This record gives sequence, structure tokens and C-alpha cells, in this order.
Amino acid sequence: MTGTVCVINLKGGCGKTTVATHLAAAFALSGLNTALADLDRQHNSLLWLKLRGNRKPKIRGLNWRSDFGAAPGKAQRLVVDCPASMRGRATRKLVLESDIVVVPILPSIFDEQSTKQFIKRLEELKPIRKGKKPVLLVANRYRPGSIAAQNLEKYVRKTGYPLSARIPDRTIYPAVAEKGLSVFDHATKTMREQQALWLPLMTAVEDRLRGAGGR
Ligand SMILES: Nc1ncnc2c1ncn2[C@@H]1O[C@H](COP(=O)(O)OP(=O)(O)OP(=O)(O)O)[C@@H](O)[C@H]1O
Ligand SMILES: [Mg+2]
Repeated sequence: MTGTVCVINLKGGCGKTTVATHLAAAFALSGLNTALADLDRQHNSLLWLKLRGNRKPKIRGLNWRSDFGAAPGKAQRLVVDCPASMRGRATRKLVLESDIVVVPILPSIFDEQSTKQFIKRLEELKPIRKGKKPVLLVANRYRPGSIAAQNLEKYVRKTGYPLSARIPDRTIYPAVAEKGLSVFDHATKTMREQQALWLPLMTAVEDRLRGAGGR
């Protein structure tokens, strides 16, 4: 069975592609057969894969703009990078077909407001409302101790969904993206520090996928 994780928020620029590419890299580097589907016309995830070149282990790229929904049979993990704007029907189909929904969010009043609306839409779906389909929030460009970070923590507590990672605002993220890499592709001290920050998300994802019968 393919464990499918969709990375989605209807807010632009919150880190969907950064989170999707990092999840895909982490899965592949841990030895899982991994595919990365790009639903966004901007094709940022597919560009990231192109920049990655022939680096092993290979991550299979899927252009889902025209062909929505088929995962390669052998894939153990499928990560779906979503666009900022998606029609209600497409969002519902994708969320229902995914095992886990990961929602990146920036610490800002505007992002909190948009995410609130998005979560309300998600909760129109019974499996989400009933807590059968996990929703994991990821705080991106997080600055520990800032007022914005404190407000975000308050906001997240109100949603009732877990905040599974706090990813700091660091120039290494655009820097690794430019090379088709992730913080998991390096073993320097700085990168290992960053990897540790992703660990709660990776653990939460794996626990839930294994619980759902994934390999
Ligand atoms: N933690 C971070 N620290 C610094 N820069 C970041 C971080 N996360 C993302 N960025 C940068 O912010 C920009 C937007 O991130 P990203 O492309 O992942 O967002 P997105 O939600 O996929 O955007 P879109 O809605 O356009 O698809 C990119 O240039 C990315 O490199
Ligand atoms: Mg994107």
C-alpha cells in the first residue's frame, strides 16, 4: 500500500513545496520507494527534482496537472505538493485519497486567518471532522520567542490539531532548494540541527502511516 501525504494550504507561499520536497527527500533517503506528485502549474516540485538530477536514491516525479491521482504501484510513499488555489472538488478528492494532510502555516495574522478558513473547509469532510484522517500543522519560517510565534502557538492550540514541526526562517532553505536538495542531503552540523527539527513531523507521519497499514 502506498502511504500518501498531501501538503496543502490554500494560502500561497507558506512553504508547501519546501515541506513536500523535504518529506520526499527524507522518505527516499530512509530507503522508501518515493514519488513526488506536483499538482501546481508552477511545477516547483518538478523543477526541484530536475535540479536534483540523478542523485540517488531516485524520487519519481509525477505531473498531476493533467492526470490527477495515479500513484506508481511500487511507491511506498507518495507526497503531493498542492497549489495555493484549488477548487473545492479537487481539494476534497485529494484529501479523501490521502492518508495524512500536512498543512504548513506561517506565523502571521493573515496566514492564520486563511488557514482558519481552509481548516473549516477541510472539516466539511467527515473523516477530518471525526478525526479519522490526521491533519498535522507545520509552523514554517518560525522565529522562536517572537510575538508572531507566540500568537501562532495560541492559534494552533485553538484549532485542536497538533503542531508537528517548527521550521525556522533560515536562508539555507532557499539555498538547498536551488540545488534540488534538502537539509537531509547533507551531514554538516548546521544541517543535522535542521534535520532534528523535522523529526517530530517525520515521526508523526510514519506512526500514522504504519498505523494505517502502510509499509
Ligand atoms: N523555513 C524557511 N526559511 C527561509 N525561507 C523559506 C523557508 N521555507 C520556505 N522558504 C522560501 O519561501 C519561498 C516560498 O516557499 P515555498 O515555495 O515552499 O512555498 P509554497 O507554499 O509552495 O508557495 P506557492 O503557494 O507559491 O506554491 C521559497 O522561496 C522558499 O525557498
Ligand atoms: Mg509551491
